[in-house]
Amino acid sequence: MIHERYAKITGWGKYVPEHVLTNQDLSQMVDTSDEWITTRTGIKERRIRGEHDTASSMSVAASEQALEVAGITAKDLDLIIVATSSPDYLLPSVASQVQDMLGAECGAFSLVAGCSGWVYALTTASQFIFSGMYNRILVVGVEIISFAVDFTDRTTCVLFGDAAAATVIEASDEPGGVLSYELGSDGAGAMYMYVPDGGSTSPLAQKTIDERRQYIRMDGQNVFKFAVRTLSGSFKRSIYQAGLTPDDIDLFIPHQANARIIEAAARHMRVPIDKVYMNLERYGNTSAASVPLAMVEAIEEGRLKDGDLVAMCAIGAGMTWASVVVQMGTSEISAAHSLFSMARARHLARRTSDAVVDTAQSALLPLYTFLYQRRKKK
Ligand code: UT7
Repeated sequence: MIHERYAKITGWGKYVPEHVLTNQDLSQMVDTSDEWITTRTGIKERRIRGEHDTASSMSVAASEQALEVAGITAKDLDLIIVATSSPDYLLPSVASQVQDMLGAECGAFSLVAGCSGWVYALTTASQFIFSGMYNRILVVGVEIISFAVDFTDRTTCVLFGDAAAATVIEASDEPGGVLSYELGSDGAGAMYMYVPDGGSTSPLAQKTIDERRQYIRMDGQNVFKFAVRTLSGSFKRSIYQAGLTPDDIDLFIPHQANARIIEAAARHMRVPIDKVYMNLERYGNTSAASVPLAMVEAIEEGRLKDGDLVAMCAIGAGMTWASVVVQMGTSEISAAHSLFSMARARHLARRTSDAVVDTAQSALLPLYTFLYQRRKKK
C-alpha cells in the first residue's frame, strides 16, 4: 500500500537572553553610531548571552516550549537535530547534551550550515518523516555567536546577536506541512565569512589570540551581493517546485541579516514588503536561530495562521543557502496547495504504474523463460 506522509510543524518556542546590547551601547565600544547601524542594517539592538546561558541551556528552554505547544513530552521524540555554529564544546555534539537535559530517549546530532542551519535541519527532519522512519522530531536553531564576534571590529560586531528557537516536526496523513525545499552550497565563497583559527587546520595558539584570529572575518559587500541574489533565487525555486507562485505565499520569512538585503530581495521577487516578516531590528543576525525565531514571533503576532503558506529562506557561511515552503497547521488545504497535491497525485500515479509493470514483468518471467528454452530446443 502506498501511504503518503506529511511533515508538519506542530510546536514552536524561543529563548532570547535578557541582556540587550543597543546601538548606543556599541557606539561607546567602537567608532560607530546608531544612525550608521540603523540606516545600513535596520538593526537597533541585539541580545547577548548572560553568564549562565549556553547553547544547550538556551536550546532546552526553547524546546520545552515547543514540546508544550505540540502537546508531547521529550520521551515521545524519535530524533533531535540541533543546528548551530557555536556549540558548548567542539566535542561532544550539543544535540546529545540537549537530549540528556530534556530527558529524551532518542538519537541526536548537530548540523553545521552557518545561518542556513535550521532550514537544512528542517529539511533533513522531513526526510525521516517522509520515509516513514520517524514520527516526531525536535529541530532547534541556536547560536551564541557573540563568542566568535570581535567587539573591537565595527564592521562585524554591530550585526550579530544570540538566540535559540525550537520546532517540533510531526508526521501526518493530512496534506500540508513541508511542501518543497532547496539546499545549496558554494564553497568557493568560503572566505567571504569565516573564523581563521581554532579549527584543525590552524589550532588555537597565542598568536591566534594576539592577532584576534579566533573571531569572524567577513567580506561584507560580497556577502551582501551573494545574499540578495541567492535569497530571491532560492525563494522562487522552492515556491515553483511546490507548484505555487510568489503571489500564493502568505508570508515570506528571510534570514534576518540586514533590512537592505531583505528589501532588495523582495524587490527582485516583486513581492510587497508587507508580506515579508522582519524582526532583525530587535535581535540582529542570530545565525541558525534567525529564521525559526522569526517564524515563532510571526506566529505569536498572528501573522501566520493555520493553513497559511510560508516561504522561508536563509543564507550563511559556507556559503550555504536553504529555502523551504511550508503550509502551517492542519486546517483546510488552500486551492493553491491543491495544485501541489495534483502534482503529487500525478507523481504517485506514475510510481504506481511503474510498480504494476514491474510486478507483471516479474510474474511473466517464468513463462518467458519456458518459451525461450522451448524455442532453443527446436
Ligand atoms: O548571515 C550573513 C551575515 N553577514 C551579512 O549579512 C553581512 C552582509 N553585508 C552587510 O550587511 C553590509 O555589507 C555591512 C552592513 C556589513 C556594511 O555595509 P556597507 O554599506 O556594505 O558598508 P561598507 O562595507 O561599504 O563600508 C562603508 C564605510 C566604510 O568606511 P570607508 O572605508 O568608506 O571610510 C566602513 O569602514 O562604512 C564603514 N563602516 C562603519 N562605519 C560606522 C563599516 N562598519 C561601520 C560601522 N559604523 N559599524
